[in-house]
Amino acid sequence: MAAGWCFALLLVLCAAAGADASKGKWETVIRMPGEEEPATERGSEGPDGTEDDAIGTRWAVLVAGSSGYGNYRHQADICHAYRILRKGGLKEENIVVFMYDDIANSALNPRPGVIINHPEGENVYDGVPKDYTGDEVTTKNFYAVILGNKTAVTGGSKKVIDSKPNDHIFIYYSDHGGPGVLGMPNLPYLYADDFIKVLQEKHATNTYAKMVIYVEACESGSIFEGLMPADLNIYVTTASNAEESSWGTYCPGMEPSPPSEYITCLGDLYSVAWMEDSEKHNLKEETIKKQYEAVKERTSDLNSYSAGSHVMEYGDKTIKDEKLYLYQGYNPANANMTNSLFWQAPKAAINQRDADILFMWRRYEMLHAKPKERVNVLREISETVTHRKHLDSSVDFIGKLLFGFENGPSVLEAVRPSGKPLVDDWDCLKRTVRIFESHCGSLSQYGMKHMRAFANICNNGISGITMKEASINACGGHNSARWSPLIQGYSA
Ligand SMILES: *[C@@H]1O[C@H](CO)[C@@H](O)[C@H](O)[C@H]1NC(C)=O
Ligand SMILES: *[C@@H]1O[C@H](CO)[C@@H](O)[C@H](O)[C@H]1NC(C)=O
Repeated sequence: MAAGWCFALLLVLCAAAGADASKGKWETVIRMPGEEEPATERGSEGPDGTEDDAIGTRWAVLVAGSSGYGNYRHQADICHAYRILRKGGLKEENIVVFMYDDIANSALNPRPGVIINHPEGENVYDGVPKDYTGDEVTTKNFYAVILGNKTAVTGGSKKVIDSKPNDHIFIYYSDHGGPGVLGMPNLPYLYADDFIKVLQEKHATNTYAKMVIYVEACESGSIFEGLMPADLNIYVTTASNAEESSWGTYCPGMEPSPPSEYITCLGDLYSVAWMEDSEKHNLKEETIKKQYEAVKERTSDLNSYSAGSHVMEYGDKTIKDEKLYLYQGYNPANANMTNSLFWQAPKAAINQRDADILFMWRRYEMLHAKPKERVNVLREISETVTHRKHLDSSVDFIGKLLFGFENGPSVLEAVRPSGKPLVDDWDCLKRTVRIFESHCGSLSQYGMKHMRAFANICNNGISGITMKEASINACGGHNSARWSPLIQGYSA
């Protein structure tokens, strides 16, 4: 199947090549699936060959930060992005993909070997390279890939961003997150301060001209708020601001709904907004700014924000005037698409954290003829909901112990003014997370939402010893081996 889509792609490229052959800038050879593309000079990968010397090579890193069928949508987003970049002429060797790869062949997938990112969408799984899958999807490997450091990579294809000073880099991430953190299927999570340091390090090596980063996650603005320098030649947009959820879409029971056999959301609101926008425009004409504005509008839920979020931007905003094809490539089939096309926007979305529960309930409902499995799923739902309540109440309890019954909740929830980072001492944040998890259990995907509480504990100068005492008092009686960080791992 991979060969099938690859072949289709070659045909598209070759058709375009035919039109351009008079300029002698593209080889008019029809290669068979599996045949290597001929070695071309660095920077000449544009399907129409124009202007490419100046823009260097286009690189991309695509990261799905989750695992599990209930998180179908994140890997679907990443596969879809890969397809867009390939159609845009980026080469496989220049796109590094991180995905757990447990969706397409999951027993729960109604279409084995297929992943879709839209209710009527085509298969986006075919041909996606398995650069870093399973255990290899780690924050450490992600950083090594960005920095182009092969020796720092553990496992995987060893493909890294081996970029040169003229090159353009596009990074796209999709998953759950929380204040100051982005999820990874293998712990620890990605922490904002480390990520920004990696970007600074990359900049210091003088190995790119410009970079664009798109991030879909809850509270994704907090990764950059007050932290992202404007002088790294990097422009960033995020699905949400520093204090709100981002949203899953194309979910069961919503409009438009996935085909009835699907019990999980197919995409995320900000993610499908940028990708469906890219697919409907001539990216040699559309600016980054224009896409930012279109995505911002679509993700806002018609400016109501009741089932939507505030798309934010950070970093070097002068990059916005550039055309998208510098990062996402250019698909000649879109040559005549104007900026006036409109999508059929999803009429509903679900916040990322509720999407997990929706999935589990759909699974439960689906199993009406299998009572045994049904009981197991019900137990899973019950344990998950109970652990969530336990996390919420123990964080609340610790806040009251540390700051008093009246002030506890407001101190923990306090949001710093925009332009200020979540926390000043990131090591304190990580330490506090570890202390909490030792006594109260793993934060899990859901518990990332409490990062602001831990950050505020640090911002108020609470010592490790005091935090430990409070955690023991709040969770001393907690006895759930399943959530022990010894089994789950530490988030920091
Ligand atoms: C690459 O990573 C290795 C192992 O972590 C490290 O020792 C080395 O200094 C890194 N190289 C560069 C150029 O940063
Ligand atoms: C775009 O329009 C031009 C002029 O009408 C036409 O020659 C060309 O074939 C069109 N390209 C595509 C991809 O439809």
